[in-house]
Formats: sequence, C-alpha cells, structure tokens
Amino acid sequence: MNILSIETSCDETSVAIISAAGGIAAPKVKVLSHTTLSQIQIHQKYGGVFPHLAQREHQKNLVPILIKALEEAHSASSLQKDGQAGQARSASSGQARSTSFRSTQCKQMNIKPSVIKKIMKILEREPLMLEAFLKHLPDLVRPPIDVIAVTNGPGLEPALWVGVNFAKALGELWGIPVIPVNHMEGHIASAIFTKNKKCLQFPLLALLVSGGHTELVYSKKWGQYTRIGETRDDAAGECFDKVARMLSLPYPGGPEISHLAAGDRKKFPLRKKKYNLPSPMIHSKDYDFSFSGLKTAVMYTLRKIPSITKKIKREIAREFEDAVVEVLVSKTKKALEMYPVKTLIAGGGVIGNPLLRKKLTEIVKGFPKITPHFPPTTLATDNALMIATAGYMDIAADKTTLKKKFSIKAFGNLKL
Ligand code: KG4
Ligand code: ZN
Repeated sequence: MNILSIETSCDETSVAIISAAGGIAAPKVKVLSHTTLSQIQIHQKYGGVFPHLAQREHQKNLVPILIKALEEAHSASSLQKDGQAGQARSASSGQARSTSFRSTQCKQMNIKPSVIKKIMKILEREPLMLEAFLKHLPDLVRPPIDVIAVTNGPGLEPALWVGVNFAKALGELWGIPVIPVNHMEGHIASAIFTKNKKCLQFPLLALLVSGGHTELVYSKKWGQYTRIGETRDDAAGECFDKVARMLSLPYPGGPEISHLAAGDRKKFPLRKKKYNLPSPMIHSKDYDFSFSGLKTAVMYTLRKIPSITKKIKREIAREFEDAVVEVLVSKTKKALEMYPVKTLIAGGGVIGNPLLRKKLTEIVKGFPKITPHFPPTTLATDNALMIATAGYMDIAADKTTLKKKFSIKAFGNLKL
C-alpha cells in the first residue's frame, strides 16, 4: 500500500511517501521519499514558533514539497525496478510498488469542473496555497497513492489546518481517501525505525517528550492508549527552550543546551550540584512530571550571578539537563517496574537528547524481557515519515479505516 503523508503541526513542513506492508507486528516500510523543510531560521528571531508565520510558510511550502516528493518517489520506484532499491532511502526492507510516480511530467486532462470547485471551497482560507495548487497540481497524472495520512493534532491549530486542508484538496483531486493521524501516535510510530530488528510487541510503554508534551503512555494494542503520567505544567522540550532563552541561546533550545552540557561533562566527568537545581517530583508516587519549578530555579540562580560567563552557562546547562533527564528516566523506570510491558518506546524531539537516550538505554538493560525501540535522532523531531507510518498502522489495526468517511478537523489539543 502506498501512503502519502503531510505534517504541519508546528514549524516543520514535511511530506513523505511510503510503501508499507507486513501489518502491526512486523511492519515493513519502504521510504520512497521524505522531505522536511524547517522554518527554524524564520522563527528564531522571535525566540519561539509564531503560529501565523508558521501557517503562512506551510502554505508557501506544501505544493513545491509535494512535487519534489513525487519526483523522488518516482526515482525510488524506478530504481526498485532496476534492482537497485538499496540506493533509495530505506528505513527497513520492504516491498515498494514499481508503478510510476512520474506525475510531474505528464499532463492530465479531464478534471471535472465540479472537482475544481470543491478544491476552491476547501482551500478558500489558504489563498496563497490555492493559487499554487491550481497552477501546478491539476496537470499531474494521478500518482499510485492509495491513501493520504495527515496530522490533525495536537499542535498549533492555524498550522494544522493548512496541512488538513491541503490533504483534503489532494484527496478530492485524486479521488482517494484521507485519514487523520494523531501527531503523538506518529511519535510512537517513529520507533519502528529503531536499529534493532525485533518486532513491536505489546503491551508497550511510550515515553513521549516534545515541545508540547511530556507523557508516559501504556498501550495493550495499537490505537488504545492509557496516559499513566503527564506534565502538570511545562513540557520538557518547552522547558529546554525557555531555559535556553534565559541563557541567551537560540531557538530551539534543546540541542543548544545539550551541546553546552556535553562540553561541561567532558571537562568534568563527575556530576557536581553546584547550583542546587531541583529534580521536581522525582520522589512522587505517581508518574507525573513538573518542570516549571526547575525553570524558575534556573531564573533565580541566574539573577543572583552578576556576570554570566560561558563557563557558568555550561555548568547551568549541564545541571539543568541532568535534572530533567533524571526525572524522565526515574519515572520511566518506575513505570517499567509496575506495568507488564514487552517494549519501551521513546519518541518526540527531546529523545534526540544524547544523555536521555544513553540513560534510557542503561535502564532497559535492567529489564532483559523489555526491548527498547528508539527512533534515530533524525526521526525524533517532527516529520511526515512518522505520520505515514502511524497511518499505515491505523489501517493495519482496523480494516474499516479506509472505508470510514472522516470529516477531518484540526484539534490543537487532540489527545491520544
Ligand atoms: O517533537 P518536536 O520536534 O516538536 C513538537 O511536537 O513539539 O520537539 C521539539 C522539541 C523542542 O522543544 C526542542 O528544544 C526539543 O524538542 N529538542 C531537544 C533536543 N532536540 C530537540 N531537547 C533536548 N535535547 C535535544 N537534543
Ligand atoms: Zn512532535
């Protein structure tokens, strides 16, 4: 089955095309194309993501990215035909259909005026995108895509709507179904691109840590999730970003802080608690988190220091990162002790943090029956490949998915 996916929940415009088979237990995903355009540089001067700017950029980017994705998928599927599929970016071995994606080079006639009218209605709030859509896309031959998967939340609503409407308009143009995908389920799905070759076994525990979420999720089967713990205030990634801003580091703050912290750790391998930053809720009996106290502690610490040198920044970054990672890992370990899980999944931008990955890897070793599934760091942050994969898993888990008539809306606070 060929799936095209669209992700626009925050500041990344991303489109992927996959060919997937194998079902829930042993999904085989062949990546035919995957393009992500980051808006980081545009938002950097505001110190965070500015939703209406993100919306405008997604509108500008989606049509050209889609065309690029179709061209890449065409090359990938012709390589496959020539028996050189290994050259295509492949996340795991699998069957790609060798049907042509050469849609950008042929002219397609016969688009009914009623279809164009419907597309104009769907995209009436995205005039920039509508113009590019009608200029370039009706001329394409319909590519061999079976279904479109689109992120419909959680995220920034103005940004989500652009992706949702684009997906609906494409579905209308090509006469194929569009299914909604929960962004957090996408982060769970990214874990199938793990290095280990083991199947995804249920029940599983997922630690999801991103700019908007910090939660521990227990799942007995794909599509059914119980949130056993979550942050009571700031998300871990949000806290990284805010502390980075206090240290005059650019957005996004996570990678900046972990870089500084690694510098300090290299010089002084033994942990020091010089500033006495707290590890909030580490001893609480539940699986919840809280990061705003830690953020405030950093703020008060910095206020007391007359001149913030590079060395002090490194020390604070390290002590802050140690505290966040300590809490995340300790609660995850406690959940692994309590729940009968076979798999530990980690997902979300913060999983790109090397210290967190290292510590999680260490604790799973204490549970020989539990297999860790962590995505590569390149797939930890937002991307459309995880959305296509989650879309495939949704279809594999429930055969009626493709028959359902979804009325897709963007929900900023969509829950798992
Ligand atoms: O999942 P994601 O790409 O977007 C959301 O869905 O929010 O996560 C972005 C978050 C940002 O807050 C960013 O600072 C954080 O992930 N992040 C990191 C690292 N790389 C990205 N946090 C800590 N260490 C990192 N290496
Ligand atoms: Zn995310």
